Amino acid sequence: VRVMVLAGGLSYERDVSLRSGRRVLDALRAVGVTAEMRDADVSLLPALQEDPPDAVVIALHGATGEDGSLRGVLDLCGVPYVGCDAQAARMAWDKPSAKSMLREADIPTPDWVALPHDRFSELGAVAVLDRIVNRLGLPLMVKPAQGGSGLGAAVVREDAALPAAMVGCFAYDSTALVERYVPGADVAVSIVDLGAGPQALPAVEIVPRDGVYDYAARYTAGLTTWHAPARLDEEVAARVAETALAAHKALGLRDLSRVDLIVAEDGSPQVLGINVSPGLTETSLLPLAVQAAGMDLGRILATLVGRAVA
Ligand code: DAL
Repeated sequence: VRVMVLAGGLSYERDVSLRSGRRVLDALRAVGVTAEMRDADVSLLPALQEDPPDAVVIALHGATGEDGSLRGVLDLCGVPYVGCDAQAARMAWDKPSAKSMLREADIPTPDWVALPHDRFSELGAVAVLDRIVNRLGLPLMVKPAQGGSGLGAAVVREDAALPAAMVGCFAYDSTALVERYVPGADVAVSIVDLGAGPQALPAVEIVPRDGVYDYAARYTAGLTTWHAPARLDEEVAARVAETALAAHKALGLRDLSRVDLIVAEDGSPQVLGINVSPGLTETSLLPLAVQAAGMDLGRILATLVGRAVA
C-alpha cells in the first residue's frame, strides 16, 4: 500500500499541519508503510490523477483541510482517505452548525450566539455587547465560527473587552461564535475506530501555565502541562468518554476525531468542539492519548489506512 500524507496547505494552521504531517510520515514508515508527504497545493490535482496513491492520510488543519473541500476533491478522484466524508467534515468544522447538531442530539454544549460581521457593523459594538451579555452573561468565550488552534479566540471577563475580542476574531473569520464560558477542567477525548466501532482513548487534561490554551500555549514547549489520563474520578471519566463518543456519532464521523470538552465543577461535561483532523504534532493531544492508552500511532494509522482501502 502506498500512502500520500497531505500536509501544509494554505490555512492559518499551515505550520502546525507540516508538523503533524512529518509526525504521521515517521509513524507510518516506522511500521513499514510506504508513505510520502505532499503539500496540498495546486499541483495536487494532476498528481492525484496521474499517479494516484492507494490512500491518503489528511494531516491538514484549518480551511480546506478540515472543511470538507479537500475530501470532495479526493472523492472526485476516487482516492480513498482516512477520516470522515466531506459533508460530515463541513458540519464539524463550522462550530455553530456542529453545536446545533449536538443540541439536537441532547449532547450538552455551552449556550452560544453566532454573529456575522455584517450584523456586528450594522448594530454597532455597544448594541451587540448589550444583547450578547444580556443573553449569555459573563464571562464569555469568543472564537471564529470556523478555525482552529485557538487563533482569534479570547476569553472575555468584562463588558469592555468584548468589542476588541470580536474585532480580533473577525480577523480570522467573517462570523464570530460567542459562547458562555463554563469554568472547569479542559479535557480532550480522542476517538479511533479500528474496526470494532469507535472507542474513546483516555481523556487528556490541559492545564495552560497562563490559564489560556492559546496558539502559543499549544505549540511552545513548557507553556502547558498535560495530564494523560486526565485527573478525573472514574465515574466522571466514564461520562466524559460517553459524551465524546455520542458527539462523534451525532456528527456522523468516521475513523478518528478529537472531541474537546469542559468538565464543570459538578463533574458534568459539555462539548466545546469536534476536530475531524486533529493535531498530531509532538505537543498535540491525540498522540498523548495514544501513548496513555499504550497504543502506537503508526499502527493505528496503518489500521485506518487498511480500512480505507478495503
Ligand atoms: N486545530 C488543531 C490542529 C487541533 O485541533 O489539534
